[in-house]
Amino acid sequence: MARFTLPRDLYHGKGALEALKSFEGRKAMICVGGGSMKRFGFLDRAKQYLEEAGMEVQLFEGIEPDPSVETVMKGAEAMAAFEPDWIIAMGGGSPIDAAKAMWIKYEYPDITFEDMCKVFGIPKLRKKAQFCAISSTSGTATEVTAFSIITDYQKGVKYPIADFEITPDVAIVDPDLAETMPQKLVAHTGMDAMTHAVEAYVSTANCDFTDPLALHAIKMIQSDLVASYNGDMTRRASMHNAQCLAGMAFSNALLGIVHSMAHKTGAAFADHGAHIIHGAANAMYLPKVIAYNAKDETAKKRYGEIADFMKLGGGTPEEKVELLIAYLRKMNDDLNIPHCIKNYGADSYPAEQGFVPEEVFLQRLPEIAANALLDACTGSNPRQPDQEEMEKLLKCCYYDTEVDF
Ligand SMILES: NC(=O)c1ccc[n+]([C@@H]2O[C@H](COP(=O)([O-])OP(=O)(O)OC[C@H]3O[C@@H](n4cnc5c(N)ncnc54)[C@H](O)[C@@H]3O)[C@@H](O)[C@H]2O)c1
Ligand SMILES: [Zn+2]
Repeated sequence: MARFTLPRDLYHGKGALEALKSFEGRKAMICVGGGSMKRFGFLDRAKQYLEEAGMEVQLFEGIEPDPSVETVMKGAEAMAAFEPDWIIAMGGGSPIDAAKAMWIKYEYPDITFEDMCKVFGIPKLRKKAQFCAISSTSGTATEVTAFSIITDYQKGVKYPIADFEITPDVAIVDPDLAETMPQKLVAHTGMDAMTHAVEAYVSTANCDFTDPLALHAIKMIQSDLVASYNGDMTRRASMHNAQCLAGMAFSNALLGIVHSMAHKTGAAFADHGAHIIHGAANAMYLPKVIAYNAKDETAKKRYGEIADFMKLGGGTPEEKVELLIAYLRKMNDDLNIPHCIKNYGADSYPAEQGFVPEEVFLQRLPEIAANALLDACTGSNPRQPDQEEMEKLLKCCYYDTEVDF
């Protein structure tokens, strides 16, 4: 038996934020990040709509990008003091993911972070509060997913919490919020969404319910991401929906080792000033992982189906895989994303000399590879690498060399 879970309600289209006016409850806690939602007026509007709905509102502000375990614990304490029956998380993947983890701790004050990380091991929520997620970036789709990514900075490792219990009750997908994204954020989050859709389509947990969502998302991202990056707001609105469709697919079909590697490299070089941004990591690793996975016959066939759906041409399955890889690399070029960690430079732009020194990378490689193998996303990858293969793959991602194994 398999399960397919999505939020009960999804409000979408321009002005969808107003849906908050129809919420029923006593107290709402709004969780936001560092200031973009406040700066652009969305926080005030959300607060006002909830007050119009008769609720007392409290804010939990300042959730950092790639939120830490400490932030989660602090937020849960604030929730315990205020006792909301609605948690409204607004912003990019970071504040929404943090709020999901705070929600677990609020409902179960004795739960430890280690317990939260047990895949599909979260106890029943919704005894204290319901959860609404309002996304302001076009990539993670955490507004519809069963995931939350929290970073343990002591270990330098990102941990996915995965359980349908944390799939939000309500998602609001309002393109107005995505309009203010700076270009770089559009690029990174957009390639994150592309990776979600491609990994979901070839995942061993794919099914009839997830395939159409993944394929349609891929087609929309192919059509709209670069134009959105270049400032076309109609295409940006379309990207906001596309990433959400990709999220519906991967929340139910799961992901693969592009994400395992992104999770385990993301914070591994933070001490060298290199925070490898999630979407940029995915964009660099996806072409390499496709080449690796395509040695598996089923995966090769499914990559071919993606290439056909994108109308990339090619006669044989091998040619189709090649064309898909070339297309994704061209997207990285168009979006100013480097092809490998070695060239991951300041502001995450391509550079001759990146942030991550070769000797540091090689020294940490065995541990990063071991952590990536243990990541929750590895199990559903179409090909199961061993330690040696994972190290080789990560090296290809560092040097931008060909995957021939
Ligand atoms: N839960 C999931 O299913 C899932 C999936 C993929 C990634 N993730 C996680 O999500 C996090 C990344 O989230 P993200 O890429 O959405 O970015 P983010 O939430 O980390 O935000 C990045 C920056 O963009 C700013 N920002 C956000 N929206 C903006 C807007 N509309 N206008 C201007 N600035 C804006 C934020 O203030 C922040 O400084 C990572 O921790 C990643 O691991 C989660
Ligand atoms: Zn992702």
